[in-house]
Amino acid sequence: MKSYNNLLFDVTDGIGTLTINRPKSLNALNSETLAEIGEALAEIKDNADVKVLVITGSGEKAFVAGADISQMVSMNSLGAAALSELAHNSFKTIESLPQITIAAVNGYCLGGGFELANSCDIRVASSKAKFGQPEVGLGIVPGFGGTQRLTRLVGRGKAKEIIATGAQITAQEAQSIGAVEEVVEPDQLMDKALEIAKAIMKNGPVAVRMAKYVIDKGADLDLNTAISFETQMWAQTFATKDQKEGMQAFLEKRHAKFSGE
Ligand code: CAA
Repeated sequence: MKSYNNLLFDVTDGIGTLTINRPKSLNALNSETLAEIGEALAEIKDNADVKVLVITGSGEKAFVAGADISQMVSMNSLGAAALSELAHNSFKTIESLPQITIAAVNGYCLGGGFELANSCDIRVASSKAKFGQPEVGLGIVPGFGGTQRLTRLVGRGKAKEIIATGAQITAQEAQSIGAVEEVVEPDQLMDKALEIAKAIMKNGPVAVRMAKYVIDKGADLDLNTAISFETQMWAQTFATKDQKEGMQAFLEKRHAKFSGE
């Protein structure tokens, strides 16, 4: 992996950790950071050593406190559209990664930070994390997917309440509305993310990859089309070595040794 100005990256035992690293600005997303996220993900996509990816923020205070306001303050509509498109491209790349992604939310998760977390497959939060879409307080609307991904996660009413009030909510509240899957004590955050990553890695890699794909693809289809699509994907898994091994291992009362083929 090449080195980045605003990101750190590490791979240990199959788990990649991508850290947004601008702690002095509470990891605010400027255009350089957004572009670097896109580049890093393109590398991670083809990195067979990365089975699961964890995304987190540097320092104790913030996951990401939003888009960089100091960069946006003098921006015109053209510049804003370009920044939004850059973020959309990077965040769509997260969704299209074959690996499962886990956001480990270690602190403030606001604006573009919430939008980044909502592009990940699973969110684990520190009990001290705070979530919100404060954009309307700055005179703008969320522009990195917040009006759409948050709405799909929590429904229109909650999304409108969060976005229109701009109020911060706790990790526990975020969990109660389905915007966060797990909440743990701050010092347990990475352990919890790694525990989930390891549980995923025990399973058939092709099946895990396909499950992510079919869930995401099906979410944008009508139910009949989506379940037909599921049938196709389900049938395809029966053409894999992993299916033979997984079922044989069950019958032989042993742990499966998946080859990912
Ligand atoms: N952009 C740029 N700099 C930021 C930032 C941001 N989003 N958030 C924090 N910072 C900077 C602060 O300016 C400050 O820098 P200095 O030390 O140079 O003054 C430093 O990070 C520490 O922040 P604070 O002193 O403000 O820390 P605090 O503990 O008092 O408050 C906070 C923490 C409540 C998170 C507060 O920093 C805050 O409200 N930040 C902005 C949150 C926000 O509005 N985010 C949405 C941005 S718009 C957006 O994201 C649009 C979109 O849809 C993508």
